[in-house]
Amino acid sequence: MTPSLPEREAAVLWPTYARPQVEFVRGQGVRLWDSRGREYLDFLGGIAVVAAGHAHPDVVAAVTTQLGTLGHTSNLYFTGPQVELAERLVDRFGGDAKVFFSNSGAEANEAAIKVARRWSRAARGEDATGIVAALGGFHGRTLATLAATGKPAMHPPFQPLPPGFTHVPFGDADALRAAVGPGTAAVLLEPIQGEAGIRVPPAGYLRAAREITAEAGVLLMLDEIQSGMGRTGRLFAHQHEGIRPDVVTMAKALGSGYPIGATIASSEVADAMQVGDHGTTFGGNPVACAAALATLDVVEPLLGGHVDKVSARLADGLQELRWRLVGRSTWAPGGEDGDPLPGAEVRGAGLWFALDLGEQAPVPAKQVALAALGRGLVVNPVTDTALRLAPPLVVTEEEVDEGLARLAGALGEVGMCR
Ligand SMILES: Cc1ncc(COP(=O)(O)O)c(C=O)c1O
Repeated sequence: MTPSLPEREAAVLWPTYARPQVEFVRGQGVRLWDSRGREYLDFLGGIAVVAAGHAHPDVVAAVTTQLGTLGHTSNLYFTGPQVELAERLVDRFGGDAKVFFSNSGAEANEAAIKVARRWSRAARGEDATGIVAALGGFHGRTLATLAATGKPAMHPPFQPLPPGFTHVPFGDADALRAAVGPGTAAVLLEPIQGEAGIRVPPAGYLRAAREITAEAGVLLMLDEIQSGMGRTGRLFAHQHEGIRPDVVTMAKALGSGYPIGATIASSEVADAMQVGDHGTTFGGNPVACAAALATLDVVEPLLGGHVDKVSARLADGLQELRWRLVGRSTWAPGGEDGDPLPGAEVRGAGLWFALDLGEQAPVPAKQVALAALGRGLVVNPVTDTALRLAPPLVVTEEEVDEGLARLAGALGEVGMCR
């Protein structure tokens, strides 16, 4: 018998991913189709990546035109799209900043860590190389970004990791203040923790982090790899708190699926780097930059009006679903319309939400995600108890209603929705 794709994969690919039994072969807008011709609503968007939607004609045209004109020269030479994209990002960041382009989120954070140490050695002294990050934060899977990642259980198999990283509870400004000292180069935080389950810090946390770092003379570096590119309704999530960090990292949605990472640093910090200090073969190549410029053209007009409107619809629909959740048999509904399942909550902003089923959920989030897939809805279990929704920013209110109906069906199928 001809082996199936999963069987062929198991023979030749590292066993690093646990995939459901589906092979997507085509995408258009917010929809995907699998190899059997089944249609899905993609409410994950390739993990908050496909901001412009699948196969957006402007992104496709920009990429194919650029690839057909000039695909790659290396960073030994000037290329126009790279400078144009940097100008655009620096402008949106508020000016007086410089960009380093790479190919992924982890690489964008590696560059941030390197520039922080390079800058701090000169500005604050030879020993000021420490990076303070937050528990629960996720910054990537290279050795340094894994060390920065505040999930201690991920560390042991890959030790020794680069030293110099400490972690404090996320959202706790006092703990952050206590951790920043003479040995610190920078604080590295996600504005909202994505992989931790879309954890939103208390209002004012980022402003406090800005004050603490400014007072100590250390850098505030924000990992906007998941939260950036309009995911929360502003181009950068930190803009909701009206602050300006020293360094911002981006990737994921920047190219709407075409790999590109960016590290934006204030000019004073960026200028600590010398020729030869850092580099990459592919980073910022003309095709990736053309993809990002076209993505920005699609995404920026959606911010404010469209994203806010659809966000409200999705948030309301998820809240309604939360009220309809049913838990273990030990839990009895109370009140007039029944109480929500204890611990169940909706977290997030913009078009980026977690529906947390709570500790009393009778089934893990993974089972709900599988049931949703069976009903033509792509979401992922970001934690054991929480489903993540990050649809393309072009999603319409009708598609949101359709997705919510499919999610309600999936929750009903596992006995969790009344
Ligand atoms: C906040 C954050 N930082 C960094 C990364 C790593 O990005 P990449 O997988 O492109 O290396 C991710 C990926 O999920 C992320 O969510």
